[in-house]
Amino acid sequence: MNTNRRIRVLTVSSANMDFVMNVSRIPEAGETLSEPGGYAFIPGGKGANSAVAFRRLGGDSVFCTRLGSDANGAALLSVYRSEGIDTRFIVTDPKEPTGLAAIMVEPNGQNRITVFPGANLAITEKDISSALLCRPEALFMQLEVSTETVLTGARLAAERGIPVFLDAGPARPDFPLEELPQLEVFSPNETETEIFSGIRPKDPDSCLRAVLKLSERVKAKYYVLKLGGRGCYICDGKYYSCLPTYDMPVVDTTAAGDAFTAGLTLEYMRSGNMVRAGKYANAVGSLAVGVKGALPSIPTEAAVDRFIEENGVL
Ligand code: RIB
Repeated sequence: MNTNRRIRVLTVSSANMDFVMNVSRIPEAGETLSEPGGYAFIPGGKGANSAVAFRRLGGDSVFCTRLGSDANGAALLSVYRSEGIDTRFIVTDPKEPTGLAAIMVEPNGQNRITVFPGANLAITEKDISSALLCRPEALFMQLEVSTETVLTGARLAAERGIPVFLDAGPARPDFPLEELPQLEVFSPNETETEIFSGIRPKDPDSCLRAVLKLSERVKAKYYVLKLGGRGCYICDGKYYSCLPTYDMPVVDTTAAGDAFTAGLTLEYMRSGNMVRAGKYANAVGSLAVGVKGALPSIPTEAAVDRFIEENGVL
């Protein structure tokens, strides 16, 4: 099904401990709710979710981030090691705490997330240039770190001829997209597309208009809009494909987007075919929404291959 090439991807991005609250509904201002659904501390963070996905989906995953010198940091590091991730470029920050995400999950699987970034904002240029010594074939980033980290990572990779894949989450209206070098892939979800382009991607026409707007701000070989339950829209500026996703029961959407973009990156690097990569990523995302929690929901290569086979995806 997939080519057997093991692609080495360097993720320069965030790591969080997720404090997950299962709620029947979101409380009103000033209201106290008592919830029997329970809570859990689950490893997450957009960067870590993707770094784990690269490994579980059959890549070599190198992770560059910063953790705090605290119990959450120690717990996360040991999880990454047990996943087989290259953790040599994870720095323990002496001052800042490990990132924490407070996540409320409603019964329909929708979530609301507030992140306290802590050490994620302390990644330095030296951290990134050291990590680039691992000779990655692709650099993967998201916006859950400082603006400077994203711009520096993209610049250093571009100078070395390494393709840059940027997942545009979480969108910050003030992020200077114009300062990025040429990217391989720029991939926002629906909300992020609207924040960066001013256009809500509802149908092929609005998706195309949004991509044209985005392309005035950031140069990329491919724009891949993540449309949640509607799949994805891929455009190279000339041609486009709308790839529907698969009808799967939604338990929890946390990390599905992170898994999607990692699957897209890896399969594109393996095959060189972006439409194939989009279909593969839709399969990865579909499996991720069926499991509760961030890291636990990232599927393995074997599970994705089985899903592809059973559903005639590729
Ligand atoms: O994309 C999901 C992730 O967003 C969660 O794991 C949380 O940590 C936040 O970063």
